Formats: sequence, structure tokens, C-alpha cells
Amino acid sequence: PLPVILDGDPGLDDAIAWLLALASPEDVRVLGVTTVHGNVGLKLTTHNAGVTLALAGEAGAQVPIHAGADRPLVRAPLTAAEVHGDSGLPASGLPEPTRGLETEHAVNFIIRTVRERPGEVTLVATGPLTNVALAFRLAPDLPGLLREVVWMGGSTGQGNRTPAAEFNALADPHAAKIVLEAGAPTRMFGLNVTMQAIATPQRVERLRTLGNRAGAVSAELLTSYAGFYRQRYGLEGGALHDPAAVAAVLRPDLFQMQALNVQVETQEGLDFGRTVCDLYGVTEQPANVQVGMKVDDGAFFELLLDRLARLP
Ligand code: BDR
Ligand code: CA
Repeated sequence: PLPVILDGDPGLDDAIAWLLALASPEDVRVLGVTTVHGNVGLKLTTHNAGVTLALAGEAGAQVPIHAGADRPLVRAPLTAAEVHGDSGLPASGLPEPTRGLETEHAVNFIIRTVRERPGEVTLVATGPLTNVALAFRLAPDLPGLLREVVWMGGSTGQGNRTPAAEFNALADPHAAKIVLEAGAPTRMFGLNVTMQAIATPQRVERLRTLGNRAGAVSAELLTSYAGFYRQRYGLEGGALHDPAAVAAVLRPDLFQMQALNVQVETQEGLDFGRTVCDLYGVTEQPANVQVGMKVDDGAFFELLLDRLARLP
């Protein structure tokens, strides 16, 4: 199994993404989870990390939680409570965290863990990239020591928080710029691909009727944002953004990728936080990111269902 660190801002789809990883021991070994500000503030994302590990039962019991950055590098903090609710995990009957927080900061944990296993660790980031950027600044050797960075964020086209910018990119554009320019092998799964994977009512029903708590909670979380997706996008269900990044580690063959030059706009203005993807090679700049373009969303959902069924 590939050693992975899960860095994110749970967040309802982060939580489902982490459950998918924790339920897949034949593919990945979760060395730790690290939290960042994002959908909600750091206190809540860190609490929700504990809730998510508790939801995974045995599979989450030995996984350390390290809290990271409580604000973006430069810009003013931005949250997404309108999508994820005030708590970040809008579901009932959630377990309390069973495991305490580690004292080591997330950034130090990432640096130490990657250095202990040169060339082996995959960092799956499903929130603003603040922790990853700080790790790269503190430890310039890190991009060269990671197996891969896999990020849910950005878009080759339309944004969701502004017409130009996706939430994770907009919540810390300076961090995204540092990470995408660092030279680490990087795969990006932006809205252009994650919006192809919709949790339709039929799919949510299948999760609900798995007969376990993980399925029931995931169904409730996805239902909570279906109304937002209908009203804003005219879609019958929410997008499985963050689970796509984990699925891409478990089953890379489900995704069509394209190597592109990607730059991040850090000037405040209409395009602030936009991931500018050179689809036609007009800049003649070298590709720095493997960008997800298409997903076999049916197979992706079957994978999610199959794996979540193993949890309590
Ligand atoms: C991303 O933003 C967050 O609200 C989600 O958790 C996901 O990581 C989608 O734009
Ligand atoms: Ca997220």
C-alpha cells in the first residue's frame, strides 16, 4: 500500500474522501491526517478530523491528527459555511472523536514524515494549500522527496467561489502558487473534472441503504448540500470533489489526465485565485501539473460504495 498523508479542511466531502482512504488498506496506508483552515475554521476542521476517524472505527483508531495553519498565508480568511454548514459536518448522530490531537504542528509532521520515507509519500490535499506551502518553504528539499502531491482544487475553466476561482485555490492563492510551482510531481483535480461526479439521489440512496453508519452519514452529508447544488447549478446532487482526489490515488486509471502549464493568479481582482491552465500550449511554458480532465464517474462511485461498505 502507498503511504499517504491526508491534508484537508473537513468539510463534508473531505470527510467522505478520508473515509474512502481509511477503508482502502490494500491500496493506501494513512500515516496521519493534517488539518487546515478552509470550509470552516481550524478548530472545527480539527474536531471534524477526529469525528471522521471515529466514523472509520478500527481503521481510524491509530491515525494521528495534527493541526496546521489557522489562516491563509497572505489574504484574509475565507470560509464556505454556506455549503458545509456552520459546523462543517452537517449530519446527525456523529460520534465524538476518540483520539486526542498530537502536539506536533501539521507542517512539522509533514516534513518529518516525508523525510523519513524519501520518494514514498503521497500527500493528498483537499483544502487550501497553506500547510503544504509552509512545508515547502521550511523544507525546500520536500518537493523532491515526495512521491506525489494530489490536490483537489482549481479548475481549467469556471470557478465556484467566483466565476474565475475554485474555493481551495481562492482560499489561499499564494499557497497554491508556491505548491504548483515547486517542482513536485503534482496531479490536480479541479472543478472541470470533479463536477462530472455527481451524487445523484439514486446514488445517495445506495449509500444510505448500505446498512452501516458510514453509508448513512455520507448520505446525510451529501443530501445536505443537494439543495445548494440544485439552486446554484441546476444539478440533481452535489459533486464528489474531494473523494475524487483519493479515488485518483486508489485507481489512477479512472481518470484521463493532461500535462499542462498551470499558473495561479495572486493579484487581487476579478481573476484572484484562478488556476490559469494553458490547454493549448500558447505560452510555450513547460507543463508543471498533470491535470484531471475526465473521470469514469460510474466506476468511481462503485469504488466509493464498495469501500465505504467495509466501515462500521
Ligand atoms: C472544494 O471546496 C470545498 O468547499 C470542498 O471541500 C472542496 O475541497 C470544492 O471547491
Ligand atoms: Ca475540502
